[in-house]
Amino acid sequence: MCGIVGYTGYENAEGIIVDGLKRLEYRGYDSAGIAVLTDKGLQVRKKKGKIENLEKLLMEESLTGTTGIGHTRWATHGSPSDVNAHPHLSMDGKIAVVHNGIVENYVELREDLAKNHGIKFITETDTEVIAQLISVKYGENGGNLENAVRDTVKMLKGAYAICVIAADTPDKIVAYRKDAPLIVGLGKKRNFIASDIPAVLKYVKEILLVENQELVICTPEQVKIYNSEGREVSREPMFIKWSIEDAEKGGYEHFTIKEIYEQPKAIKETLMRRIDDEGHVKLDGIYISAEELNSYDKIYIVACGTAYHAGLVGKYAIEKMARIPVEVDIASEFRYRDPLVDEHTLFIAISQSGETLDTLEALREAKSKGARVLSVVNVVGSSVARESDDVFYTWAGPEIAVASTKAYTTQLICMYLIALYFGRLRGTITDEYYSFVLKELEAIPEKIEKVLEKAPEIENLARHLYNRTQVFFIGRGLDSAVSYEGSLKLKEISYINSFAIAAGELKHGTIALMEPETIVIALATQDALFDKMYSNIVEIKARFAHVVAIAKEGNTKIEAESSEVIYIPQCADEVTPLLSVVPLQLFAYYVAREKGEDIDKPRNLAKSVTVE
Ligand code: F6R
Repeated sequence: MCGIVGYTGYENAEGIIVDGLKRLEYRGYDSAGIAVLTDKGLQVRKKKGKIENLEKLLMEESLTGTTGIGHTRWATHGSPSDVNAHPHLSMDGKIAVVHNGIVENYVELREDLAKNHGIKFITETDTEVIAQLISVKYGENGGNLENAVRDTVKMLKGAYAICVIAADTPDKIVAYRKDAPLIVGLGKKRNFIASDIPAVLKYVKEILLVENQELVICTPEQVKIYNSEGREVSREPMFIKWSIEDAEKGGYEHFTIKEIYEQPKAIKETLMRRIDDEGHVKLDGIYISAEELNSYDKIYIVACGTAYHAGLVGKYAIEKMARIPVEVDIASEFRYRDPLVDEHTLFIAISQSGETLDTLEALREAKSKGARVLSVVNVVGSSVARESDDVFYTWAGPEIAVASTKAYTTQLICMYLIALYFGRLRGTITDEYYSFVLKELEAIPEKIEKVLEKAPEIENLARHLYNRTQVFFIGRGLDSAVSYEGSLKLKEISYINSFAIAAGELKHGTIALMEPETIVIALATQDALFDKMYSNIVEIKARFAHVVAIAKEGNTKIEAESSEVIYIPQCADEVTPLLSVVPLQLFAYYVAREKGEDIDKPRNLAKSVTVE
């Protein structure tokens, strides 16, 4: 959600910044802009819509200079428009600012600036307040940009990251982070600031993670970071091993399909690092003693969207294997409910980006009440990872498409590993069962390959069904958890109104909606619940709805009552979500493609949701 790129060096900044912005497109945005310090002072170009619009403008009115900042905006305050796009300039045109996040007290600040400093505002944004305030403080600080930024951030409330350049302070970018991601890319005679690593990966491999309430001063020759007390901090750079190709499409039409196909590899990676030579699960050096585990009277799993759906499977696995009660909650609900959390609670946060503000705030709430926080995160060094007591990385690799796919299946693997580890520690599972589930997990990548071979079949189905307007996903037990994820995938990328419900609940109301045009995707992969599910399908069929069933190979009985059946390979009931979600991801993808939608960047959505 919003992307920042800053560059200072000896080459022309324009192309480098625009290239960085393109690498951040996955975060979701509705306008883009750039400011460069030229020999005519600060010059800004910005445009509503895609980065191509900005590029067209730059072809007509290019910018020459070696220091600049750029931004992709996802509108919060003020509609998406050229004028509201970042960067924003101060009234005298001498300060340019890009900003991610929200300034909560911008109305008061705006009134004060207008009344006491005669500032006239030209945008509806909260960000313009920052530019004007820095300009006032710049004057008060005798033209010292870093002190002007320090004084300004003391007055801002909210969560934000900013990047600032000044007309009279050449070759310098000042940035500040409070609860919104920011990294520094270290180069030779050039340095970068960005909201995420892919923006700078083409140019540098050494990254510094900026911590909360730190100020960064970046020149072509050096980078200095200061903490909230104004003391300079030294920090070891991280060396990033993944290449820009890892984050690019590699021959696939969309990132979404590439990432669906990457699941076997991603799962292997997630598993490989966690099983030792004796075939035991290790939790990345996370040490929880049996005594400590037994002291927890409950586990809270908290997350948003797809990550929340992974939590639903996590609940099932942990309760079954470790016999500890688990509550799964949506982060935005948890944090405002005064939840019953104390030092006897283990709190598990799940997040791909590690920057989802609701999840982060829920984590802080739980921590403040004494819970130990374990996070399951994909983005290394992200805020959720940094604020947790323990981190269990999913190792899915960069997930660029807005719709989460490989992050979900690797989150599931992490949940199973945690459940097995806890179960063994508490002695609630036998050694045989432990080894059996581990073997089932190890067989998953190959079985997903088999499901992926069904892509042409699913594509064909999508071609016939893409113009329907109502789709239901139903299932029982673990199948119901996967139904929620299948439904979310379909609605977010194909914009078809879909709805997921536990199959047993249908007859309590929702069955009233069944009619011949309705599609019902019925997951029937749980052997233990197969007969119950079969009866539900019979009931639906009696209302003439079009049933697409997902079942394990061999369960051919279901064919009599379904219009189509997509089979997944035989596996234990416990691990079916890892396989049954794949046809649902493929279905959503092919329906969206058939409809010609913007699959990787669905409307109104952002990859990392850093606002409430
Ligand atoms: C759906 C999707 C979202 C995210 C949610 C949480 O495909 O991607 O529902 O799962 O916004 O994001 P993270 O996992 O980054 O906290």
